[in-house]
Formats: sequence, C-alpha cells, structure tokens
Amino acid sequence: MQRPIYNMPHYPTLTQNYAAPPFNAIKGDGVTLYDDSGNSYLDFTTGIAVTALGHCHPKWVQALKDQLDQLVHCSNLYGIPSQQKLADNLVKIAGKGKVLFCNSGAEANEALIKLARLHGQKKSEKTGKPCFDVLTAHNSFHGRTFGCMAATGQEKIQKGFHPMLKGFRHAQLNDLKSFEEQMDEHVAAVMIESIQGEGGIFPAETKFLVELKALCEQHNTLLLIDEVQCGIGRTGDFFAYQESGILPDAIGMAKGLGGGFPIGAIWIQEAHSTLFQPGSHGTTFGGNPLASAAGNAVIDILQEENLLKNVQTLSASWHEQLHQLKAQYPIIVKAIRGRGFMVGISVNDAITIVESARNKGLLIVPAGHDTVRLLPPLIASAQDLDQSVAILESVFKELSSH
Ligand SMILES: Cc1ncc(COP(=O)(O)O)c(C=O)c1O
Repeated sequence: MQRPIYNMPHYPTLTQNYAAPPFNAIKGDGVTLYDDSGNSYLDFTTGIAVTALGHCHPKWVQALKDQLDQLVHCSNLYGIPSQQKLADNLVKIAGKGKVLFCNSGAEANEALIKLARLHGQKKSEKTGKPCFDVLTAHNSFHGRTFGCMAATGQEKIQKGFHPMLKGFRHAQLNDLKSFEEQMDEHVAAVMIESIQGEGGIFPAETKFLVELKALCEQHNTLLLIDEVQCGIGRTGDFFAYQESGILPDAIGMAKGLGGGFPIGAIWIQEAHSTLFQPGSHGTTFGGNPLASAAGNAVIDILQEENLLKNVQTLSASWHEQLHQLKAQYPIIVKAIRGRGFMVGISVNDAITIVESARNKGLLIVPAGHDTVRLLPPLIASAQDLDQSVAILESVFKELSSH
C-alpha cells in the first residue's frame, strides 16, 4: 500500500547536521507513532533505542506528572530522594557499587573516560610510567563529544574535527589477540559496547568478553562497558553484557533508562567507586528529580510488566521469521545479527529499505554502512513483531521484482 504524501518538514533556522526528516512526528502511543498528515507507523526505531516502554506509557506519564507537581530541579546541591531510589535500583541490578548521574550517553561515557584517567593516575603512581590510554574497538560508537569521538573507532565520526584528544587506541572486536597486542602498562581502561549499535549491530561474543575481562584483570586495567544502546532490557537481559556472566568495573547507560526523558548514568564497581571525590566531576542537571522519576518508572514498569521475559520469549520466533526472510531473499538479505529486540539486517541499500518500509508503515533506522536496525519497544506484542516481518517481506518482494 502506498502511503499518502507527507507534509514535508521545513525548518530553515535549524542547523543541517541531521538528514532532512521525512515527516513531522506529532504523537506517540505504545508501538505507534503518528505524523501530521494522518499517517500512523509501527515504530521500530523507538527514538534510537530510547522509548523502551513504547510511547507515552500511561504509568510512566503519570509518574512524570506526579513529579512535575512536586519538584523538577534543584541541582546536586541537595539530596534528591528519587535519584537515590534510582541508584538503589541500579545497584540491585548491576551489583555492589555506586552510581553517578548525567544527561546522555556521551556524558556517561565521558564520565567513564574520566574514571579511566583517575584509575590510570593511581596505577602510574605505582609503576612510575604514564598511564592514561583507553583501548576501544574498531567500528565502535561512544558519542559525539571530544572524548567520546576519540574513543569511537570510526573515522567518519571524527572527520573534520582533528586533532583528536590524545590517549585512545583501537583493536578488533571479538579478536582477543588484537586487544592483547594493544595492551600494555600505559592502558588505563578498555571500553567496549556489548553490542555495537551505530556500527551495524555486531555483538561482542561471550567468550571474547570473558577473556577480555581476564586480560584487563591481568593488567590492572578497568573494563568499561558501554550499554547506552543495548542496555535497559533491549536484549532480554537488563544489561546485554550480563549474558556473559562477567562483572565489569563500570557501566555507562542512557537512552532507555529514562524511557524518553533524557538521563544518563554510570555504575562503578565498589572497588573503584571512591575514584570520584568531591570536585572530580559534576553536572548541573544530572539525575534531577524529574529525570530520576522517569528512570524509576522505567525500572518499575519493566518489572511489573515482566518485559525482560517478553523480550526473551517473543524474540525467538521473531528472529526465526527474520531468518526465513533471509532464506527467501538471499540476494537482498546478506546477514541477520543481534539479540532480543536489537536486530540488524545487512542489505545492499539500507536507505531504500528504510524508505520503502516507512511507506508501508514500518519505521526502522539505518546503522553502519549497509545495515537496517530494528529496535522495537520492549512492550511489543507477537502481533507487532509479525507485522514487522510482513512489511519487510513486502519490501523485499517489491525490491526483488525490480
Ligand atoms: C553505544 C552508544 N554509546 C554512546 C552513545 C551516545 O549517546 P547520546 O547520543 O545520548 O550522547 C550512543 C548513541 O547512539 C550509543 O549508541
């Protein structure tokens, strides 16, 4: 079915660093996003892995309204009970340690990089050798600030902004030897996405994570896990690394944590949690009462509605159906990767497939140079997932007939 013409957005006073948007989004309800031309879409972008509970979950909306009536902001000058509750929630999930709040994924990773520098300083006091490097993976994505850009293993993200911040090295994901070759006494931390998201949905293998953790321990190097995109239930575990059984030294998170309201956080394992001291770091907005209420609502609803289980049970048959599509359209579908509700389909022309799916009522998002990403909300039903497969099948059928 061909969709009606969209109202083309026209925003002449906005900078042009985002691709021209195809439509104006004006309303969201559960798995559905509405534009201002009367079209509705099955939203499998979730605002790039953010609206984990779907759009405007009524309990989440109520929690935000309740907090709005009480207190929105007071900065970290004063105690914020909802922030403390969210930290307690995260410690229950990640393990004994401490939490620091911020406002985004890049800010969370900046805090992880600062943690790495503090750890490196301590290490160099013992060895007498400078230690501040952070080792990350090629094809990784850690954010757009100067620290995160330098950490990111993709030249296209760094283009135009050289010189990069000093002290970053890169090695090949899932290739322990490549990490061993880069590891020495100057490396303060390794930072890794459990599943590379922007790079095209490439999971870190369990064996690799376990061996990487051992390598880090051997060198007194922190293992920092970037769960900004793959965390908060997206894979069926609260954090994607949990499947491997490792205990990271620190975790960066954001996106799904606020369910659509901006918040980021890092969790630091108890042994390293005193590296940050008063004055080491700070943020005006991080963990404010409203953002923290959003985070608590996300965690409460994930538990009340058993959403991790939902992802675990429904993703098996969804993945199976997607693999059937691959078998049916081998020229178009090169590979299917991912876990739970975080799936990448490798194709020749990601942009055409994203556009065609949109015209048929399914929103998906490109990743890497040849991948389309499917990121359903964790509340998606079997029918929603089936519908995504039916739309993709129709997209591939149309493409293969050209
Ligand atoms: C793995 C990862 N880390 C960090 C970031 C940066 O997050 P933000 O855009 O909230 O700064 C992203 C964003 O896509 C991401 O996917």
